[in-house]
Amino acid sequence: MNSFRIAKFKRLDSTNKYMKENLDKLSVFDVVTADVQINGYGRMQRNWFDNTDNLSFSLFLELPLNERNGILTQITALAVMDVISKYTKNASIKWPNDCLVNEKKIAGILIENIIQGNVVKMIIGVGVNINNRQFDSSIEDKATSLFLETGTTVDKDVILKEILTTFKGYFNQFIENDLTFMERIRSRSSVIGKFVTLFEGNTVYVKDIDSMGRLIVWEDGKEYSYVGSEISLTKNYK
Ligand code: BTN
Repeated sequence: MNSFRIAKFKRLDSTNKYMKENLDKLSVFDVVTADVQINGYGRMQRNWFDNTDNLSFSLFLELPLNERNGILTQITALAVMDVISKYTKNASIKWPNDCLVNEKKIAGILIENIIQGNVVKMIIGVGVNINNRQFDSSIEDKATSLFLETGTTVDKDVILKEILTTFKGYFNQFIENDLTFMERIRSRSSVIGKFVTLFEGNTVYVKDIDSMGRLIVWEDGKEYSYVGSEISLTKNYK
């Protein structure tokens, strides 16, 4: 844990936004948390519902520009999923950036890359539903929390530390080019071996996730890698 420098705020617009606005002051492994985000956001500029029951944080990294960095979303999801799995069963990773429990979303990840020459300043935003007892009616059938799954409240700081420590272990492997975590990413994926509908609307079969974090899919007898931002599990396919 020692390498992380954690700044805690009671309220922020968004921890990702805070980091983007303070980019020049950040060091690698800086972490910003907010007890409440007023304007937390996810991919596609969607709102991220947030209150004191959620864990919301951003982690800052700086890396050489490289397409293998694409695996960091999966590594983050794996770290979150590992921690959630300590508390409840049936946690999985839904490519590219969600963690599910019993097929409902419990956590979301939003990575924002700021490219400066050959360097990427990477902001890894993570939101985990921890002690939420209910959700807005617009998402209640799709969202869950650790409390709803276990019936017990959990200290958000404990979860944060567990996620950061777990992430660090996988990140060190990534730096050393040790890809043993890929097996775990694959085995805990909720999409490998399933038919999914891509954001663009076509239905494909997911064969694998590669070491750059891309989906390897089959469509009409052809195999290709997919880097899009969103997929949904296709109904009526096994
Ligand atoms: C998604 O599901 O699309 C990703 C959601 C990411 C939410 C987190 S909460 C901490 C960080 N700050 C934000 O504004 N967003 C991310």
